[in-house]
Amino acid sequence: MTDKKTKVLAFLCNWCSYAGADQAGGKKLTYSPDVKLVRVMCSGRVDPQFVLSAFRQGADGVLILGCHPGDCHYRSGNMKAKRRVHIMELMLKQFGVDPRRLRLDWVAAGEGERFQTVANEMAETIAELGPLRLPGYVSEEVAS
Ligand code: FES
Repeated sequence: MTDKKTKVLAFLCNWCSYAGADQAGGKKLTYSPDVKLVRVMCSGRVDPQFVLSAFRQGADGVLILGCHPGDCHYRSGNMKAKRRVHIMELMLKQFGVDPRRLRLDWVAAGEGERFQTVANEMAETIAELGPLRLPGYVSEEVAS
C-alpha cells in the first residue's frame, strides 16, 4: 500500500446506473472522490479497448455498471458486458494485473445507495491494491 492517490474510472450505462448515481447525488449520498464517472449508453457499449486505454492512461481500476440482468434497455448489452469482462479478467491475469482492478456490477435507477456502496467498495479495493504499474506505463510525475 502507498500514499499515492488511486483513480477509478467508472463507466455507467445511461438508463440505470447513471440514473442511480444521479439519485445518489439527489439524496446527497457521498462516494469516494477517487471514482470518476463516464456515461455510456449501455454497459455493452464498453469496448475492451476502453478498459485497456483507461489503464494505459493512468486509471488504477475500472468499474463498469449496468442495468440488472433482464433490465438492459438494449435487451442483452449487460450480458455482453459480462462475457467481455470475464475474458478481460483472464487477459489481465496473463499480464500480471490483479483482476480485482476490473469490476462489473449492476445498479438500477432507483438504487442510489447501492451505487454509493459499489463505488466506495471499488475505491477501497483499488486503494488497497495501490497504483497500477504497467510495463511501459509512464506515471504523471515522470511524464511532467
Ligand atoms: Fe443499461 Fe444496457 S442499457 S446495461
